[in-house]
Amino acid sequence: MKQPIFAANWKMNHAPADATAFMRAFLAHFGKRQDRSVIFFPPALSFGAVVGALKDRPDIQLGVQNIYWEDKGAFTGENSATIARASGAKYVLVGHSERRHIFGETEEEAGKKVAAATRAGLTPIVCVGETLAQREAGETEQVVLRQLRAALGTVSSADAGNAIIAYEPVWAIGTGKTATPADASAVHQAIGEELRRILDSGSLAVPILYGGSVNRGNAADLLAAPEVDGLLVGGASLDAQGWASIVLT
Ligand code: 13P
Repeated sequence: MKQPIFAANWKMNHAPADATAFMRAFLAHFGKRQDRSVIFFPPALSFGAVVGALKDRPDIQLGVQNIYWEDKGAFTGENSATIARASGAKYVLVGHSERRHIFGETEEEAGKKVAAATRAGLTPIVCVGETLAQREAGETEQVVLRQLRAALGTVSSADAGNAIIAYEPVWAIGTGKTATPADASAVHQAIGEELRRILDSGSLAVPILYGGSVNRGNAADLLAAPEVDGLLVGGASLDAQGWASIVLT
């Protein structure tokens, strides 16, 4: 039985007071469980409020949505992996499609962020995914595996083995269109094979999450798909009760 991971990417939503109210409501629906992992990715300025709200719930983990790859210095507006770690984060999203497509982040930059996260003891959740045009051109695997290699190529295979991967097809993010469980499985399988090559290992401990318009109605089927180890959820993670029902899938 795999132990599923449920990751909530709040993106640019929930100010500190909303985040605190969310957690109060969420914790009322979600008691401690050993059989699943829950990770929240609040916006940086709401991070402290969530740390405070979860002080009695060490079973729930926290991550940041982004880092800069330098450890410290004159980089106005940025946060480092070291600052994130010291603030209570264990995870960081790297290469999210919104970072790549809205903020122009490159594959090389994703690699630098994975290296910075690893140096600071943060687990990177490397996000990969193809656009609709790339899918229609039959380039899904090629694109996803290239993103994967670029992101993990900056660290040793032992460190790459500590990462988490999230397959998030760009055309499925925030659109209400979801990959079918079979489509997600096929890409996850290709990612798994590439990871075995990168890690030079037959067994694979790297979890592969699916993300893109996951909701209460489709979460169970996606999670049941072979090679899907968890879910990375945006919009449907913003409502405490709705998110609790997904986490309890
Ligand atoms: P949605 O669940 O809103 O489609 O967002 C997915 C996502 O980008 C999570 O990182």
